[in-house]
Amino acid sequence: MSYIEIKNVSFSYDEESQENKTVLDNVSLSVERGEFVAILGRNGSGKSTLAKLMNMILVPSSGEIYIDGINITEDTSDELLLKVRKKVGMVFQNPDNQIFATIVEEDVAFGPENLGIESSEIRRRVDEALATVDMSEYARHAPHKLSGGQKQRIAIAGVLAMDPECIIFDESTSMLDPHGRAEISAVMQKLNKEQGKTIIHITHNMDEAELADRIIVLDEVGIRLEGSPKEVFSDIKTITELGLEAPQATELCARLAGKGFDIPLGIIGEESCAQAICASLSSKKK
Ligand SMILES: Nc1ncnc2c1ncn2[C@@H]1O[C@H](COP(=O)(O)OP(=O)(O)OP(=O)(O)O)[C@@H](O)[C@H]1O
Ligand SMILES: [Mg+2]
Repeated sequence: MSYIEIKNVSFSYDEESQENKTVLDNVSLSVERGEFVAILGRNGSGKSTLAKLMNMILVPSSGEIYIDGINITEDTSDELLLKVRKKVGMVFQNPDNQIFATIVEEDVAFGPENLGIESSEIRRRVDEALATVDMSEYARHAPHKLSGGQKQRIAIAGVLAMDPECIIFDESTSMLDPHGRAEISAVMQKLNKEQGKTIIHITHNMDEAELADRIIVLDEVGIRLEGSPKEVFSDIKTITELGLEAPQATELCARLAGKGFDIPLGIIGEESCAQAICASLSSKKK
C-alpha cells in the first residue's frame, strides 16, 4: 500500500442543496512515501478540497482515504484526527492567517503544545524546526515585522515542530514576491531531499511544478492528466485546454518545434532548453 491512498473518493459541499455540485467525482490516486507531487488545475478545480480531505478538515461523501495504512475516513473521532495531524501537516496561502503568537518561537511551539508534548522535547523541536527553515536567529523576534517569505518559513517551522511525515503546501508561495517564492521552494526541496518528507505542492506556478517528481492536473470533476513533468508538459494541447501554460522554457521549445526546429517536446528547464536549441541549430547547419 502507498503512503497515501485515495480510493474512489467523491465530494460535494452541499449534498442536500438543489444545485448539488460535485467537486470530486470518484477520484483515486496514490502518493508514495518520500515522493514530491505537484497538483495543478484552474481555479475551482478542487485542489484545496482534495488537500482538506487528506487532512480530515473535510470528510468525503463516499470512498476511502488511507494515510500510512490508517483509514482516515473510518470515523471523525478526535483520536483519529490527532493521529492524522501528526502525520500530515498543512501550510496555507496567507502566512498572516497562520501565525498567532507575538514571538516567533512561541508560535512554532503552538502545535506541539497542543499535541501534549513534554516541554524539553518542545524546546528541541522548536530549535530544530527554526534551524531547518534557516530562521534560528529570529526566534525571539515579532512575526509581524518579518517579510512574507520569512513569515511563511515560520508557518512551515510550526508544522515541522509537529514532526509530520507529509506536508501539503496549498499555494503557499502565491502571495510572495519572487525572492520569497524561491526561499519557500528551496525549503520544500530540502525537506523532501534531505529529510525524506512526502511533499504535496498545490501551485499555479509552472516553474515550481516542474521541480516535482510527479504532476497531477485536476479539472472540474477529477484527475485529468498525470505523469512526470516531462510527460505532462509534453501534452501542450491538454495543458492549454485545462487553462494552464507549460513552463516558459518548455513552451518556447514547443513553439520552435512547431516552426520546424528539430526539438523534442517536454523539455524541462532553461539549461535543457538552451541545449536543445543549440543542438537543433548545429544539426541544421550540417
Ligand atoms: N466552503 C465551500 N462551500 C461551498 N462550495 C465551496 C466551498 N469551498 C469551495 N467550494 C467550491 O468547490 C469548488 C472547488 O473549490 P476548491 O477551493 O477546492 O478549488 P481550488 O482548485 O483550490 O481553487 P483555487 O485555485 O481558486 O484555490 C469550487 O467550485 C468552489 O466554489
Ligand atoms: Mg485552492
